[in-house]
Amino acid sequence: MKKREHWGSKIGLILAMAGNAIGLGNFWRFPYQAAKNGGGAFMIPYFIAFLFMGIPLLIIEWAQGRYGGKYGHGTLGPMIYLQAKESVGHKFAKVLGALAGAIALSVVILLNSYYNHVIGWTLGYSFETAVGKYMDKSIDTAGYFVGYIQSPFRVLIFWIITLAILYYITSNGVNKGLERLAIIAMPAIYIFAIILLVRALTLGSPVNPEWNPIKGLDFLWSPRWNELNWSATLAAAGQIFFTLSLGMGIIQNYASYMRDEDDIVTSAVATASLNEFAEVILAGTIVIPIAFTFLGAEGLKSGVGLSFIALPNVFRNMAGGQIFGTFWFLLLFFAGITSSIAMFNYLTAFLEEEFGVERKKGSLFVFLMYIIGGLPVALEPILTKTADLMYLTELDNWVGTYFLVLLGLIEVIAAVWLFKAKGLEEINKGSYWKIPMWFYKLIMSFITPAFIIILLVFSTIDYAKNGYFKLIPDFVKDNSVLIPWVIAARIVLIVIFISSFILTYRSISKK
Ligand code: PHE
Ligand code: NA
Repeated sequence: MKKREHWGSKIGLILAMAGNAIGLGNFWRFPYQAAKNGGGAFMIPYFIAFLFMGIPLLIIEWAQGRYGGKYGHGTLGPMIYLQAKESVGHKFAKVLGALAGAIALSVVILLNSYYNHVIGWTLGYSFETAVGKYMDKSIDTAGYFVGYIQSPFRVLIFWIITLAILYYITSNGVNKGLERLAIIAMPAIYIFAIILLVRALTLGSPVNPEWNPIKGLDFLWSPRWNELNWSATLAAAGQIFFTLSLGMGIIQNYASYMRDEDDIVTSAVATASLNEFAEVILAGTIVIPIAFTFLGAEGLKSGVGLSFIALPNVFRNMAGGQIFGTFWFLLLFFAGITSSIAMFNYLTAFLEEEFGVERKKGSLFVFLMYIIGGLPVALEPILTKTADLMYLTELDNWVGTYFLVLLGLIEVIAAVWLFKAKGLEEINKGSYWKIPMWFYKLIMSFITPAFIIILLVFSTIDYAKNGYFKLIPDFVKDNSVLIPWVIAARIVLIVIFISSFILTYRSISKK
């Protein structure tokens, strides 16, 4: 077997893992999730989920990955199989491995097929902001965004550039590609963010003298216990999954390039802290105060469009806004690329290790696959002249939200329940901080899975209530042009899932 690559240095490993975690989830998804779900009321379940579910599961994933890497595997199917077979029969371990591997493959193929588009938009918007395209105040920024996603030329160009960059980096391998990218891009992200943060805190509102950045911070940081509710709790726990890259297989993939004696506990806690700093401190202090100062509490709730519609309107009304706006979109772009590369590498590793496809060829194949896989996302607004992005939304409901939780549960079952005491041994090997037995038994074996199961059950109920399980889900039923796009997303999902299961099962069986 060819020798696997390893991370060149500890700082390289930590920056790469931080790059993996810190993404559009932090800067684009977190602010509107927090705003939509009541700010301070959202932050309470958010921190509880971070401590009792996020951190433990993250450590479990690191250990799972390093263990798989020792046997030459960087993908989830064989990793789950290796751990499960310690206490159940080979047949069952293979099925569980194939199930986990298939969920992970579906997530990395499909989530990234739309995530790469959002990264493409951020690159396009960096360019358009820098050259001052929408600076004229008579332009409606909502209409401008719709025009953007309906314009084939702009969408395709920036998306293909994004994919080409991902391809180039991945084809250069772990050290010369992924690690080098992290060492350059991560400091850039922090620098852009700190500049924007200073700007955000020194703003005054041109609209309403009552609105100011500090009141925006207050909205996020005053705990409002009486507003706690289930849907905010679900959203908060879901955000923890998304932002820490949990339940995707990509943490394990990065951890598989560790050396056997490399520290897990300290490094995992360090990267989680870097991610949370970028999310609640940087993104929380940039987006929320800016939006609040210019738009007030109602404007903050503008959802997905916050970054692409509300903020551009803010930037052009602010002194130096063209430059700050460009920084904002470049920040999003770098954050997106360093996460997306993890999914790109996962697929390349899958082809390389399970099917013997050489890295350069494999990454080219992945590039082409994302072009094909991402095409419907681009075509929907262009062909239907709408901006609802239903194909993207439907995929996001499943692979960007529901599947993560499902996979998280299988991971804990394999790494803790089936791997038993060896699971703790693996976590602590080489670690400076050791996880004590009581923590493993009480938190990792019990509280964390209980948390995930509750999340899964309530999400299922929530999905059922919102009509997501119906053949034609409620959210699209009034819009007949869009129904085919939702159905298409489902067919693609089912086909990808089934073929991933078969492929993974076969590759595990060969061993
Ligand atoms: N943790 C990432 C984020 O916050 C999630 C992600 C990783 C999404 C890789 C896509 C690809 O954005
Ligand atoms: Na993140």
